[in-house]
Amino acid sequence: ELRDGDLRRVYAEWFGRVYLEADPGTGPGQRSAVLETAVRELRHGAGKMLGVDPVVLIGEPDEGPCLVIRRRRGTGTGETASRPWEKGEGAFSVSLRPSGSGRRLELSADSDRGVLYGVFHLLRGIAMERTPEALETEASPVNRLRMINQWDNADGSIERGYAGKSIFYRDGNIVRDVARIRDYARLLASVGINAISINNVNVHEQETRFIAEEGLPDVARVAAVFREYGIALFLSINFASPLAIGGLNTADPLDAGVRNWWTETARRIYRHIPDFGGFVVKADSEHRPGPFAYGRDHADGANMLAEALEPYGGLVIWRCFVYNCMQDWRDRSTDRARAAYDHFKPLDGRFRDNVLMQIKNGPMDFQVREPVSPLFGAMRQTNQVIEFQITQEYTGQQRHLCYLIPQWKQVLDFETHAVPDGGEVKRIVEGSGFGMKYSGVAAVSNTGDDACWTGHPLAQANLYGYGRLTWDPDLSAEEIAQEWVGQTFGNDREVAETVTRMLMSSWPIYESYTAPLGVGWMVVPHTHYGPDVDGYEYSRWGTYHFADRDGIGVDRTVATGTGYTAQYFSPNRDIYESPGTCPDELLLFFHHVPYGHRLRSGKTVIQHIYDTHFEGAEAAEDLRGKWTSLEGKVDSERYALVAERLAEQAEHARHWRDVINTYFYRKSGVPDERGRRIY
Ligand code: GCU
Repeated sequence: ELRDGDLRRVYAEWFGRVYLEADPGTGPGQRSAVLETAVRELRHGAGKMLGVDPVVLIGEPDEGPCLVIRRRRGTGTGETASRPWEKGEGAFSVSLRPSGSGRRLELSADSDRGVLYGVFHLLRGIAMERTPEALETEASPVNRLRMINQWDNADGSIERGYAGKSIFYRDGNIVRDVARIRDYARLLASVGINAISINNVNVHEQETRFIAEEGLPDVARVAAVFREYGIALFLSINFASPLAIGGLNTADPLDAGVRNWWTETARRIYRHIPDFGGFVVKADSEHRPGPFAYGRDHADGANMLAEALEPYGGLVIWRCFVYNCMQDWRDRSTDRARAAYDHFKPLDGRFRDNVLMQIKNGPMDFQVREPVSPLFGAMRQTNQVIEFQITQEYTGQQRHLCYLIPQWKQVLDFETHAVPDGGEVKRIVEGSGFGMKYSGVAAVSNTGDDACWTGHPLAQANLYGYGRLTWDPDLSAEEIAQEWVGQTFGNDREVAETVTRMLMSSWPIYESYTAPLGVGWMVVPHTHYGPDVDGYEYSRWGTYHFADRDGIGVDRTVATGTGYTAQYFSPNRDIYESPGTCPDELLLFFHHVPYGHRLRSGKTVIQHIYDTHFEGAEAAEDLRGKWTSLEGKVDSERYALVAERLAEQAEHARHWRDVINTYFYRKSGVPDERGRRIY
């Protein structure tokens, strides 16, 4: 409920009477599902925050105070539905207009999705106690595809999920009761998400059948829920489906029978789901099947699927997470960081129009700190989508606090120098960099059936922030944090400031006790939680730090290493090539240096490791103290949940500190300058 009485009176007057401008499709029974949703959300929000139940009127408004909704074209349903990623889809404007002796509020949009996003914008503003003037805006989403990837399995488990079980599946089937899915659709739409893939990129046996006749009615039920919120449904598919469920003896993308099978499959899917989004594909990656088995390349594979979906406007989202996961650690010439670029750059220009490459933000795998993937900007004729990981696989698994928006901002703001003016990653992924037809952002969800959705209540800020940042990459991480905190905890100054500060400091804190200077992977194999410095050092995964008694780091230079730096445009490649200019936070990603090497900060590498680990553990303890100061000011249930997680984090940070410091002290024999206790 809005506490500011004056504001509340103003908004209550406007929201009490809502005019839907008359045009075919606004009358009861004629409205699209999305417009119905917008009206429902408006009612719900007005009831909760303003205590009014709006009267919805059709036609031109009279002179009294009201909210007018003008919509210029319908989003439609079924086959006539406009795709959420079409240009201009989702844009809206809000303005104050004179009306009689007072003013009224006007929301206008070209599409029903625009109305829905406009409604959420208004409700968000009211929740944050913004003045009417502050709500005036001309808004349109910067990224056209704003996607969430679920890594949910049909058995109800979630790959890399840290918030309970799947809300989509139970015991091999799609759930009957879709209430929780509807809540989720609502939550996602409220921050502008317009696409979702609902099953794991690793497509197992049962999920392979989702595209068979027997699986589609259930998938269609879920698609219908998301449709109400303007979100297109995608499926991750198994490249070997023709073999697995099609009765064919090959999945060769150039085989006529296989191509025909996919064409038929597309027809079948669209019969059940006329506005189906398309396929997400993990192929030839981590033992998943793909075109390589038939001597074909990824353009052959992706184009075959794209051709099948093309008549219906569907997209193929092809993941670039392709690398050798059976590497020999003795072999120093193979560099996993190079893999995506080496595989995909040569294919630039060969993909069909409705194929999008989904590229992880970094060249490895969602580590705490990585450079930006050099593929961004390198493919000039290929649609690109950036992939982030909201689920905190390598960043504390929603037991540690780690607000990831600052990390993503750094990636999006990174200047690739691929185009002379404005080659930032965000310009490339929103499509303006090279005038791409389709582009956008995708991210792996951090939600499950946990009561608070995300395990750690403060991890919700990452999902919220992902949507907001994807809509507008120029929002600052701090603004986004403030928005989330305000809507979640109310506008108590002290609570808002403390929680915002906690969020903003959390990624640097997590980095400081886990991942020094760009070294990743010092985690327990498979679970990826907790320290194990050599856990991956002698494995097949291509994830090494090469620490010995003299030094640490991976030489990725052209001069003496794997040559990875050459994948960047100048001057980035030159900056990374020399330890003198390489940013400290990435030094060990690009260089192998002695422990006594002096950083740009003036410290030696070994002293930096010791210092950051001592400081990191203290900072984690301090986070806990900050939260304790809010006892009684936030609701007790949430207070207790967060307090428990922060206590675990503080304890676990000490464990990280001691394992890492002890390891490097024993390896190097160099004592801590400050004589602190290392075991
Ligand atoms: C990581 C993660 C896997 C996941 C893979 C992917 O390696 O650990 O669980 O399947 O990324 O993105 O495909």
